[in-house]
Amino acid sequence: MKEIVVSGIRPTGKLHLGNYFGAFKNFLTLQEEFNSYFFIADYHSLTTHPTQSDMAGSVKRVLAEYIALGLDPEKCTIYIQSDLPETAELYLMLNMNAYLGELERVTSFKDKVRSQPNNINAGLLTYPVLMAADILIHKGVKVPVGKDQEQHLEMARTFGNRFNRLYQTDIFPEPQAFSAGKELVKVPGLTGGGKMSKSAGDADTIYLDESAETLKKKIMRAVSDSGPTVPGAPKSQPVQNLFDLMSLVCKTETIEFFDQEHKNGSIRYGDLKKQLAADMENFIAPLREKIQDTLNNEKRLDEIAKFGAEKARKNARETMNAVREAVGFKKN
Ligand code: TYM
Repeated sequence: MKEIVVSGIRPTGKLHLGNYFGAFKNFLTLQEEFNSYFFIADYHSLTTHPTQSDMAGSVKRVLAEYIALGLDPEKCTIYIQSDLPETAELYLMLNMNAYLGELERVTSFKDKVRSQPNNINAGLLTYPVLMAADILIHKGVKVPVGKDQEQHLEMARTFGNRFNRLYQTDIFPEPQAFSAGKELVKVPGLTGGGKMSKSAGDADTIYLDESAETLKKKIMRAVSDSGPTVPGAPKSQPVQNLFDLMSLVCKTETIEFFDQEHKNGSIRYGDLKKQLAADMENFIAPLREKIQDTLNNEKRLDEIAKFGAEKARKNARETMNAVREAVGFKKN
């Protein structure tokens, strides 16, 4: 039997470069070989945006991007998380054996406590439980995600193993975070901080359909530093970020050239940014066009979501019946 792949992205706007290189690029390769489930995590988006003004539009947007960027509904199962009530039922069951102490220690929860002190809701606390339910409902073993999701995957293993132990069953396998490269990916943003993230603001983020003009402006305004103080000085974080972004879209010779210039102390960041903007435009231009074309085809998107939900539910129902039986409930 083929190994099962599961992953999702929250519909909080357009997909960005971090989503693409952290997760989506792997979706594309995995759909060829494995039994893959890729969904749009709309339940999860409620933890930070409980009253999103255009939920349906945001979901459709991500669905269109999935298709435009190359997911094939014939090769993998593409669905919307809230079309699968079985996920919510498994989440409920797993919550009974998820403990306050372990949930409060999760880094992403602690970050949110700092960033949204007026909305520390229970959904935020149990975010990793819902994520475990997403994966375990399909008995997923490979989970393509970016570096920031590593701890959530560890929790998914904990909850799955705990369920198996408590109910003396072997329903759930152990899911592992997956990256085709050596390590899980972290794409930095343009404002000199950590990972690229929508919550760090528009200036931090490169969207996959960014217009040529905005793309250039954003990159030319990216944070750097005042130049290496002495030849051979180590790169500052904002400059390392620019090199990390170059590694995604520039040729090796280009990176080596600027690296040498930095070592010599003669680097001109304006030149580096111009080159990065040009290479980024080459990467983005075809994506921008495909996304626009797909967004215009609403009927096809509705059909894809319906088809995906049916396929996903068939699998989810089977798992849920085994879970209900293990717990002592009747099958549905
Ligand atoms: P979300 O929407 O925050 O991120 C979606 C995916 O994009 C990756 N990502 C990044 N990777 C590298 N560098 C970045 N700057 C960057 N920004 C985002 C994330 O690691 C993620 O893989 N909780 C998940 C959504 C989810 C899920 C799941 C994933 C819900 N249930 C079950 C896998 C399996 C998330 O982070 O969404």
